[in-house]
Amino acid sequence: MQDVLRPGLFAGKSVVVTGGSTGIGLAIAHAFKRFEADVHILSRKPEHLAAAAKHLAGAGLGRVTTHSVDVRQADAVAAATKAIGPVDVLVNAAAGNFPGPFDALSANAWGTVVDIVLNGTANVCRAVRPNLRSGASILNIVAGYAWTGAPGVAHSGAAKAGVLNLTKSLAVEWAPIRVNAVSPGPIEGTEGMKRLADDLGLRPAIEKAVPQRRLGDPDEIAQACLWLASPGASYVTGTCLVVDGGMDAKGPFGDLLTGG
Ligand code: HXC
Repeated sequence: MQDVLRPGLFAGKSVVVTGGSTGIGLAIAHAFKRFEADVHILSRKPEHLAAAAKHLAGAGLGRVTTHSVDVRQADAVAAATKAIGPVDVLVNAAAGNFPGPFDALSANAWGTVVDIVLNGTANVCRAVRPNLRSGASILNIVAGYAWTGAPGVAHSGAAKAGVLNLTKSLAVEWAPIRVNAVSPGPIEGTEGMKRLADDLGLRPAIEKAVPQRRLGDPDEIAQACLWLASPGASYVTGTCLVVDGGMDAKGPFGDLLTGG
C-alpha cells in the first residue's frame, strides 16, 4: 500500500465540515484545504462563516464554499446538501453546549443541545447519504464523556453518547461507507475550553489532569481526521479514535497514582 498523507491527497475530493467556521471544525477545514480538498463549511452564523473564509484565504489556502445552515433544520440541511452535490468526506463537528447541572436545565435547554448535537448529526448524515461517492467516509466529533457520563453537561454527554452509538450503527448499515468518530480531550481555543480554562480559571487544574500536562491543539484533532478519512484507514470503520493526551487511559485511579 502506498503511504497516504502526501501533498494533494484530497485533490478533487469534496469535504463537508459542519461547525467548520470555528474551533476544531475550522482546524479540520484548514487541514483538508492544505491537502487540496474542495471544502464546504456549514455553520449557523454568517459572520463566523465570513471570518473562517477570510482566515483560510489569508493562509493562502484559497476559497471555501460556505453555507449558512442550522443543522437542526432538516429542510435547510437538505437544500445545502443538494447545492453541494457529491461528497467524499463528511465531518460532523457542529455542537452546542453550556454548563449547568441537570436541575437547572429546562426541557427546552435539554432539547436544544440534543437537537444540535444528536439530531443535527442525524439530519446531516441523512441528507448527505444519497450524495456519498464510492470510498466516502463520515467522521463524527464526540467527547470523552460520551462513555463516562457528564456531570454539569448532561445534555451534551447524552447527545455525544448517542452520536457515538449512531457511528457504529451507520458503519454497519452503510458499509462499505466508513463511519468513525474522533474523541478530543481538552483542546486549546475551543468554546468549551474558553469557558472552563479561561472564564472559570481552571487551566492549571486541567493541564495537571492531562497525562501529557497540556491542552491539545485543534490541529492534533484535524490530523486524526485526515488519517481516518484517508485510504490508509480503508479497513477502519465503526470505531472511535481518542485524541486526548492520555485522559482516557488514566482510568478511575490515574490521578491518585500519578499526582494528576
Ligand atoms: C441554562 C441555558 C443556558 C445556560 C441557554 N439555555 N443557555 N440554560 N444555562 N447557560 C437555555 C435557554 O434558556 C433556553 O431554554 C434554551 O437553552 C435554548 O436557548 P437559546 O439561546 O434559545 O438557544 P439557541 O439560540 O439555539 O443557542 C444554542 C446554544 C448556544 C447551545 C444555547 O449556546 C449556542 O448556539 N452555542 C453554539 C456554540 C457552542 O455552544 N459551542 C460549544 C460547543 S463545546 P428556555 O427554557 O429558557 O427556553 C462542546 C464540547 C464542550 O460541545 C466540552 C466541555 C468540557
